[in-house]
Amino acid sequence: MNKNWFALSVIGGLLTSAVIIGANVTAQNKGAEIILINGGKMRDIHFPHHRHQNALGDCNVCHNLFPAKAGSIAELKEQGKLKKKQVMEAHCIACHKKKKAAGERTGPTSCARCHRRSG
Ligand code: HEC
Ligand code: HEC
Ligand code: HEC
Repeated sequence: MNKNWFALSVIGGLLTSAVIIGANVTAQNKGAEIILINGGKMRDIHFPHHRHQNALGDCNVCHNLFPAKAGSIAELKEQGKLKKKQVMEAHCIACHKKKKAAGERTGPTSCARCHRRSG
């Protein structure tokens, strides 16, 4: 009997911490699930933001390069702090290629699969 109560209170404790951790995650602003990125002369990109957050686990992989703010890539390009296609080539496509070479789940490397009309 005592053992069972002990087990129950351990499980209870774990559940309580899970709820607290969950609350912290939802308290963080994760931004939109799908973000439309301006593709210049090409079609816009429907970027699956939350899928990247789940697959990569680290916000700074991207937000070291541009802040977590809507329109930040366009703003940095206007200010000349990022070159045209810099994020695309050195970041998006570079990672997709690296993951493909490693045989891991990855995203598109062909123009039309990123620059397309609908998600
Ligand atoms: C693979 C790249 C990538 C990762 C990883 C990533 N983001 Fe983003 N995030 C973007 C892009 C791209 C934008 C849009 C920037 C723009 O509009 O120029 C953005 C925009 C945002 C925005 C502002 C737009 C909005 O919808 O409110 C927030 C907030 C944000 N990100 C939060 C996060 C958080 C929190 C994490 C980690 C849990 C994260 N991001 C991980 C690429 C990423
Ligand atoms: C993995 C997704 C992805 C792929 C694949 C991709 N692009 Fe892009 N492209 C982007 C993103 C994101 C931007 C906006 C950020 C930037 O300029 O770096 C962009 C921007 C552009 C721009 C506009 C630059 C500007 O500021 O005017 C052009 C033009 C472009 N891409 C052409 C291409 C061509 C051509 C290909 C194929 C060889 C291609 N893209 C493949 C994601 C992609
Ligand atoms: C550090 C690695 C990394 C970076 C940086 C990254 N991606 Fe991805 N991308 C992935 C992975 C991993 C997946 C597969 C996720 C999954 O399967 O859930 C993916 C999937 C995608 C898909 C989904 C393709 C489909 O099957 O629907 C698109 C579109 C995409 N990425 C575009 C982008 C764009 C645009 C950028 C730059 C703004 C970017 N990615 C930056 C790793 C990355």
